[in-house]
Amino acid sequence: MMSKFMEWVDARFPATKMWEDHLSKYYAPKNFNFFYFFGSLALLVLVNQIVTGVWLTMSYTPSAEEAFASVEYIMRDVEYGWILRYLHSTGASAFFVVVYLHMFRGLLYGSYQKPRELVWIFGMLIYLALMAEAFMGYLLPWGQMSYWGAQVIISLFGAIPVIGDDLTQWIRGDYLISGITLNRFFALHVVALPIVILGLVVMHILALHEVGSNNPDGVEIKKNKDANGVPLDGIPFHPYYTVKDIVGVVVFLFVFCFVIFFFPEMGGYFLEKPNFEAANPFKTPEHIAPVWYFTPFYAILRAVPDKLLGVIAMGAAIAVLFVLPWLDRSPVKSMRYKGWLSKIWLLIFCVSFVILGVLGVLAPTPGRTLLSQVCTFLYFAYFILMPFYTKLEKTKPVPERVTG
Ligand code: HEM
Repeated sequence: MMSKFMEWVDARFPATKMWEDHLSKYYAPKNFNFFYFFGSLALLVLVNQIVTGVWLTMSYTPSAEEAFASVEYIMRDVEYGWILRYLHSTGASAFFVVVYLHMFRGLLYGSYQKPRELVWIFGMLIYLALMAEAFMGYLLPWGQMSYWGAQVIISLFGAIPVIGDDLTQWIRGDYLISGITLNRFFALHVVALPIVILGLVVMHILALHEVGSNNPDGVEIKKNKDANGVPLDGIPFHPYYTVKDIVGVVVFLFVFCFVIFFFPEMGGYFLEKPNFEAANPFKTPEHIAPVWYFTPFYAILRAVPDKLLGVIAMGAAIAVLFVLPWLDRSPVKSMRYKGWLSKIWLLIFCVSFVILGVLGVLAPTPGRTLLSQVCTFLYFAYFILMPFYTKLEKTKPVPERVTG
């Protein structure tokens, strides 16, 4: 009965073909480790954001007069509104935790290298869209930090020569951040950007499945195939990795629920304290800082004394990640077989990124500014020196087959 039905469907829509190409006959390397959980977890968090977002939209009012009160209404009066909101606001932070670990895996195993350059580029476009999505979402509760955070970031465009002032006005749609700005951010946050992100995620996975997954050894499994053309070191994604990914999902949900039920605001890092006060254009908060996932770039911005140069440095810090596949000239992919220079530079990069993240939350002092300048320098040095140290260093021989 079922197979007759599937025959009928398959004659009209490639359902079985898609299932086989992307799941039951997609051969993934058998040596995936912990770091390979974060792709499927990113998908899970994406679905969570969309579902909770749709339900929040049912009770949220996108106007300067009512937005703040409508969020309070969701928290206090809408049935299970509090959990919907915390799933969404904590979900935003979880998204960045998962995506940062997912990107770190790419750096660790050289997953951006040939032939996966486009997988990486699509990933970077997702990251950009995700930052825009989070930034616009943060304005919606219309709290003090929503307002003043947006004020700081939008005014950065004012540093651009000639067109700066007109550009900021065009973004706001008004002479200051107002209900008009809130309305357009709502439209972009709820409709436009989610469509862009979903489209990019599809392209990200299509590009990956075209070339096949990398793995912790950086060995191309397609080089060793059996008589049927199946990679010897590959296993069907379904059922092996679908089942394995459930382990990641369960552990993730434990941690995620623990945060939602016990620390939903994470001491002011996920939802900042001034945001429990309605936006007031006449009262600037004492200390303005973006949410934690933006702070490394905010620290780079503040490390440069000149506003325009700071904006350029911040933009360059993200842009340089796009060209990473062409900066790494190592003959091997995985950190397991790279030399000690690559290992030390990756460590320096990660430590600098974390220190910048911490500094971006804190109010600046001369000492902290100096430290952020050192870390900004090291952040860029990791990329600028990469063509040299990856070419110069001695690498270890890569095995023919994956090592497990
Ligand atoms: C919404 C966000 C994202 C989703 C849903 C997503 C999803 C996925 C999935 C399902 C995979 C295959 C499973 C895995 O290898 O873990 C994958 C692989 C990959 N992703 Fe993402 N991704 C996202 C963002 C990013 C970002 C921001 C980057 C980097 C800039 C990135 C870079 C990569 C790379 C290089 C691979 C191939 C890894 C390998 O084969 O070793 N992804 N992604």
